[in-house]
Amino acid sequence: MKNKVLNLKAEIDKVAIAVEREMAKLIPSSTSEESFLFESMRYSSLAKAKRIRAFLVVETALLFDVAMSQAIKVACALEFIHAYSLIHDDLPAMDDADTRRGQASNHIKFDEATAILAGDALIPLAFQIISDPETIPDAEMRCELVQELSKAIGGEGMVAGQVLDLMSDKRPLSYRTMTRMQELKTGKMFMFACMAGAILGRADLKKRKALYEFAKSFGSAFQITDDILDEVGDEKLVGKPLRSDQANKKTTFISLFGMNQARAEAENCVNSACSALSPFKNAVTLQTLAQFLLIRTY
Ligand code: IPE
Ligand code: IPE
Ligand code: MG
Ligand code: MG
Ligand code: MG
Repeated sequence: MKNKVLNLKAEIDKVAIAVEREMAKLIPSSTSEESFLFESMRYSSLAKAKRIRAFLVVETALLFDVAMSQAIKVACALEFIHAYSLIHDDLPAMDDADTRRGQASNHIKFDEATAILAGDALIPLAFQIISDPETIPDAEMRCELVQELSKAIGGEGMVAGQVLDLMSDKRPLSYRTMTRMQELKTGKMFMFACMAGAILGRADLKKRKALYEFAKSFGSAFQITDDILDEVGDEKLVGKPLRSDQANKKTTFISLFGMNQARAEAENCVNSACSALSPFKNAVTLQTLAQFLLIRTY
């Protein structure tokens, strides 16, 4: 397992470097009066991060021999959306977190208005990238990516999950609503990551379904292990304030069932994620990535 994880880390780093290089080029740069906005976008989206969503886009695309340049661009778009979601998630009106990715949160480094606007600007930047005909010449493919990303992150996707998450600050959620919250706030973006690979690769229905199921279980395992780290992780490694879910009275798998059951559930989800990949002969990396969630320390 140790060797497998080391190899995996090297693979993720390779993708991360390529994606970050491209992201740096895609953020506008200018010397105009408002250029601090670009600085703020750059500050959060290029900070040290795991790039797991980017890796999922690239790895699923590789299952279908998609051109790396296309996969990298879509991965950048998703990482920009993810960065926006984190900037807003940290705002005082939301989780009120002062650190993120091992540095001051965007609204601390800049100010709240700039943080809100940097997030606002990252959203269309992502759509600009995936709708660029130079990147993806096939118009139908571009439309499908735009459609799927809109659904994944909007009021019936990630944002809905964030709304439920914030509702849980006031009143505990039921088990059913908590799982729905996780699927929306976290799962939807992982689902987009995997669907993007399938769309770029013109995957058949069976393979799309398999990747969808993989991403759904992967997303649950990811959020449960994030909640576990919130409780028992090392703040220096995680790079954001910990012990915050309890302080903010969040409903999580742990608050409902305790740590042991949360660990068992994360394991169940990882097993489901791995078995969902059975239609693929060459998905070992994705399986290792899912298993890695159970031992992650950041
Ligand atoms: C944090 O995501 C938000 C959650 C869905 C829990 P990551 O843990 O992937 O954060 P980065 O991108 O590595 O900073
Ligand atoms: C956030 O979940 C998920 C998002 C859509 C941003 P959390 O609030 O648990 O994420 P962290 O722990 O702050 O990264
Ligand atoms: Mg939150
Ligand atoms: Mg948070
Ligand atoms: Mg968390």
